[in-house]
Amino acid sequence: MKVLSISSEAFPLMKTGGLGDVAGALPLALAAKGVQTKTLLPGYPAIMKAVSGLVKIYEFDNLLGEQATLWETRYKGLDLLILDAPGLFDRPGGPYMDAAGKDFEDNWRRFAIFSLAGARIAAGCLPDWKPAVLHAHDWQTALTPVYMRYAYELEIPSVLTIHNIAFQGQFSSDIFPALGLPRHAFWESMEYYGDVGFLKGGLQTATAITTVSPSYAEEILYPQFGMGLEGLIRLRAGSVHGIVNGIDTDVWNPETDTFLARNYSARTISQRVTNRQAVAARFGLHDDDSPLFCVISRLTWQKGMDLLADTVDHLVGFGGRLAVLGSGDPALEHAFLAAAARHPGRVGAVIGYNEALSHLIQSGSDAILIPSRFEPCGLTQLYALRYGCVPVVARTGGLNDTVIDATHAALAAGSATGIQFTLNDANSLLYAYRRVFKLYEDQKLWTKVQKQGMKTDVSWDASADAYVALYSNLVAKGH
Ligand code: ADP
Ligand code: GLC
Repeated sequence: MKVLSISSEAFPLMKTGGLGDVAGALPLALAAKGVQTKTLLPGYPAIMKAVSGLVKIYEFDNLLGEQATLWETRYKGLDLLILDAPGLFDRPGGPYMDAAGKDFEDNWRRFAIFSLAGARIAAGCLPDWKPAVLHAHDWQTALTPVYMRYAYELEIPSVLTIHNIAFQGQFSSDIFPALGLPRHAFWESMEYYGDVGFLKGGLQTATAITTVSPSYAEEILYPQFGMGLEGLIRLRAGSVHGIVNGIDTDVWNPETDTFLARNYSARTISQRVTNRQAVAARFGLHDDDSPLFCVISRLTWQKGMDLLADTVDHLVGFGGRLAVLGSGDPALEHAFLAAAARHPGRVGAVIGYNEALSHLIQSGSDAILIPSRFEPCGLTQLYALRYGCVPVVARTGGLNDTVIDATHAALAAGSATGIQFTLNDANSLLYAYRRVFKLYEDQKLWTKVQKQGMKTDVSWDASADAYVALYSNLVAKGH
């Protein structure tokens, strides 16, 4: 089966978060199941620079007035189609923001055109390759199914994956005429509280909707998590599937990971101590026996980082150490730097994005703190499980689905892999810290939990099967 995946990022070429990880890893897992995926990416400067052997396969002379070249190449196992539209993508900064961290004002146009290119490919504009299924991700590519319906009346099925319903691509309705859609598409699909909603349009028109964990698929039926789209999700509930993310177990393998100070396995777990010392050294922390907590995260409200910042003093008071790697909200960046200054040797913060360091931290920390207010899936707890770093997570979304709480029963059964807590306010974190310290005191039990985590299947295998089944069903229905 042939699938066109269209995404605004894909690891290792471009990643700002979990979307990049998933869009980069899922095609590899699908390939092992006989699905041939081509991934359409924007021609950002970083991508154009990293790839080689580009073959021109198509020239778009008018995508909403923009010219673009479509290049094909292979990169680290990914079959890529790259939309090279310099007017849209050849600029400094990240994929969505300028170098000063401000959203590009024409993001709606950049990603509408990108989505339109996807729809054209789905419609068969390439001479030698036509997908059986189109798979779009998040609001940036959510217009692909919209164009497929209105511009091409396409019969091939589309899947839209919601990685995070908080990011919706909502723009003033003024832009609607420039999207090149028929007028009736506004009221039928695109209108969103008087504005234009990219994710809204995609959810309305995609053949199937997936989200990245079964719990989140349930949660978004309600206003607290649906963030305005819960009504539409309910209407489409029969077509919504929760498929939990996996991770690339080759990229994330403590036995071979070149970013670690020392490789190890569950059998040689005691050798983690070398990585623990390396993490402590990197973050300026004392090298002692106290539990070493870590955070690897966007520093945002979603991730509950304000609550963590508010309780750092307690964490240190209980005897813990903390290493924070993250960037995001300037106030939170400042709060963690201030905590590090208040607690020299006990708290360290590196503000920024550092892939290599994130691997080392997972390999050397005792526990990772993930107090998310909502979490569609979450990947850092999956990396943590694989690395023997105990996940301490809020009971929500994918965190709920992937970590087995160390209750008395789970410990007795030997199934516990981490600690879950109900997040109400900062006090919830104090309760979680207490539980960690208590478990940590019993080193034998702690090691058991670590090892149980390392045994957990966090690969893409089962979830890739679920996507194959979904694609096959849609194709069989002859949509
Ligand atoms: P989200 O996509 O909501 O940010 P996920 O847990 O799904 O959350 O994915 C985050 C990804 O980004 C993980 O691969 C994580 O390791 C990585 N990450 C987050 N912050 C940093 C950082 N400061 N440095 C390196 N990697 C980071
Ligand atoms: C989003 C979500 C995160 C999820 C990731 C990949 O960024 O916030 O929970 O793991 O997408 O699906």
